[in-house]
Amino acid sequence: MALRTHSFSLPGPDTTAGFAATLAPLLRGGDVILLEGPVGAGKTHFARSLIHARLGQAEDVPSPTFTLVQTYDTPGAEVWHADLYRLTSVHEIEELGLTDAFDSAICLVEWPDRLGDLAPSGALTLTLSTGVDEGARTAFLTWRDPRWEDRLKPWLS
Ligand SMILES: Nc1ncnc2c1ncn2[C@@H]1O[C@H](COP(=O)(O)OP(=O)(O)OP(=O)(O)O)[C@@H](O)[C@H]1O
Ligand SMILES: [Mg+2]
Repeated sequence: MALRTHSFSLPGPDTTAGFAATLAPLLRGGDVILLEGPVGAGKTHFARSLIHARLGQAEDVPSPTFTLVQTYDTPGAEVWHADLYRLTSVHEIEELGLTDAFDSAICLVEWPDRLGDLAPSGALTLTLSTGVDEGARTAFLTWRDPRWEDRLKPWLS
């Protein structure tokens, strides 16, 4: 499958939240989104907005910085929100149950470089990059699996 890419600007946190919210209802178990970008880029902001869109704003969505994984029972599929920054070995990935979750749950993974070879090939990668303007980000999307095409349609023009 060919690698596809697309980028667009996210002028503020609300646009990032809006992007997450439009994607949220289209996701199914087995969908994996790898969230790349430096500290403070907005990876957790995106994941929290997506989980809020599936669960409602009242839900507490803490950053999985220390727990590595937080799971949420959302209608239709479980959501796994992972932050692998503090991962100490690749063995932990399997111990956490993350490799099984890739097949069955909606997985949002911060610091996915820690996955090495375990990163699923069907994943969508969202890279958030920061620039000169403090509240602005650029979103770089990359994917190989054609199923992402339909879901991303509103953002691909
Ligand atoms: N356009 C934007 N999109 C997303 N977040 C933005 C944007 N502009 C400003 N922000 C702010 O940047 C911060 C991003 O913090 P967040 O915790 O989401 O970063 P992170 O990428 O998860 O960092 P870490 O690597 O430490 O986990 C939030 O306070 C958010 O409101
Ligand atoms: Mg984070």
